[in-house]
Amino acid sequence: MIQSAHSGHKISAATLSQWKAEGRKLPTLTAYDYPTARLLDEAGVPLLLVGDSLGMVVLGFKDTTQVTMDHIEHHLRAAARGVTHAFLVADLPFESYETDAQAIANARRLADAGADAVKLEGGSDMAPRVQAIRAQGIEVVGHIGMLPQHIREEGGYRIKGRLEAERARLLGDARALEAAGACALVMELVVPDLAAEISRAVGIPTIGIGSGDACDGQILVTTDLLGTFPWFKPKFVKSNHNLAAAMSAIVQEYMAGVQGKH
Ligand code: KIV
Repeated sequence: MIQSAHSGHKISAATLSQWKAEGRKLPTLTAYDYPTARLLDEAGVPLLLVGDSLGMVVLGFKDTTQVTMDHIEHHLRAAARGVTHAFLVADLPFESYETDAQAIANARRLADAGADAVKLEGGSDMAPRVQAIRAQGIEVVGHIGMLPQHIREEGGYRIKGRLEAERARLLGDARALEAAGACALVMELVVPDLAAEISRAVGIPTIGIGSGDACDGQILVTTDLLGTFPWFKPKFVKSNHNLAAAMSAIVQEYMAGVQGKH
């Protein structure tokens, strides 16, 4: 039986803000199913994301653009059954927040399915969308830098914030999302010194992925941490765990046992 490592309290948006004020780091992981969500929750992970990365690491798609509201809702409901303490965020998938009305309806659907907050990708252009969802009493997490839902236009996963104009734009995006009411901000593949500057400039926690160590929190796709998706690992992932190899060895042992070869 795994000992629970959390403080016993349900994490809320207010907790995130308090942690930022206290300089307390925010480790974040993805979870797409009941056992993973429950294991991570019981291990004390304070923030869990039902990310649209499930499109690649669970559903076998090439990128996140084929993920639908039905996919996210299905996985969110499973994850939510396993979570009692973590703040549970769900991604609004590609083209599910094209207008304020659509964003509100889909955010409501995810909140009703167990999400404490929804996450959407984009900067200042998305500030009105964040405001519209917040006006319904639903928390929102922003996501700037490399935007996986725009992978087709962008043609690849590129680091953001190398050029002066881009740096100013990203800082403005972070400030606009905070002003619109976002409770936290994911920064993906943002050059580390800019990620640090943005983290100092905003009052909401920043959660980095491939953006250096100075963010208020870090997020990893859990399969990258554990090594259960060995066919692709982003360069910034430092973990060398290889549960895929362990799983394969267990399966080989099982087969040998069934076939009487050991
Ligand atoms: O979908 C996801 O897992 C994400 C993280 C990589 C931030 O958006």
